[in-house]
Amino acid sequence: MKNNLSNIKKAKYYLDKNECVGIPTETVYGLAANAYSNIATAKIFKLKKRPKKNPLIVHYHSLKMLQLDCETNYFFYKLYKKFCPGPITFVLKLKKNSKISKNVTNNKKTLAVRFPKNSVTKKLLKSLKYPLAAPSANISTKISPVSKEDVKDEFGKKIKFILDGGRSKIGLESTIISLINKPEILRLGGAEIKKIKKILKSDIKYNNKKKKITSPGQGKVHYSPGIPIRLNVNKAKQNEAFILIKKRKLSGKNFYYLSKSKNLKNAAKNLYRTLRMIKKKKFKSIAVEKIPNKSFGEAINDRLLRASKF
Ligand code: TXA
Ligand code: MG
Repeated sequence: MKNNLSNIKKAKYYLDKNECVGIPTETVYGLAANAYSNIATAKIFKLKKRPKKNPLIVHYHSLKMLQLDCETNYFFYKLYKKFCPGPITFVLKLKKNSKISKNVTNNKKTLAVRFPKNSVTKKLLKSLKYPLAAPSANISTKISPVSKEDVKDEFGKKIKFILDGGRSKIGLESTIISLINKPEILRLGGAEIKKIKKILKSDIKYNNKKKKITSPGQGKVHYSPGIPIRLNVNKAKQNEAFILIKKRKLSGKNFYYLSKSKNLKNAAKNLYRTLRMIKKKKFKSIAVEKIPNKSFGEAINDRLLRASKF
């Protein structure tokens, strides 16, 4: 606890100096910087090698602070009450007098916001006079990090400090919902669509096959371990890592279980960790068993499909 407190102070020290800091969240670790600062947010793009046109999510501790930056609405409060803090990101209208850096929004009039649940990061946010812009703490298109070690893996000494908050409990990014017009899911993630629909008592738009990309980071290659991935496979080849979701009678050194009982929530939690583990071994490719396309399985399949576009 004491250790946490001094580490939180250390994170604050660097953030106040416009530096980037790795922060834990329940979804994945983020690469955070002062969302009000042009200098600090520019560093995020540089470190991640992220295209400037891809906007960032801003992390808040209090509603009050969020209200300084965005217009809220009925759907927002409904979902906020049920899911926050938690794995959901809202796209809202940016207020004209908001102090959010133009780097964060790519000069656009909308802002993606979320309230993370990790207790260490909640304390950090509470101690700051500004919200934190934070994309996932990986080099652009690579696997998202779910621990302090993963962030170190990605950036080494290039970042000043990584705040440790344990392994990410959800292990998959937040669900993104746009509330600008009719509620629309932009990215599948840690909050289940079924639950969101229930709260809103309304159908929501989600078009997986949409050609036009509203959320720029949603396109092309992403979450890539850097070797080919084959999906819906029954039997792996030699030199191929095999990702499984249900215990098999046979075993193999190349077997990697996301879950041993088809538990999709657990599988989601283990996905990035497993991909990163496999990446460190010398496999030539990855085979993945068919994963049921329901609940968290849908989000897992979404990530695997993008990762396979290597
Ligand atoms: O769980 C998460 O959401 C993690 C943790 C660190 O909070 N963050 C995360 O950020 O996944 P990132 O940058 O890796 O993904 C953010 C996605 C990108 O695809 C981006 O295009 C989209 O959010 N996005 C950001 N602002 C947007 C906006 N105003 N409208 C539509 N999409 C937006
Ligand atoms: Mg990302």
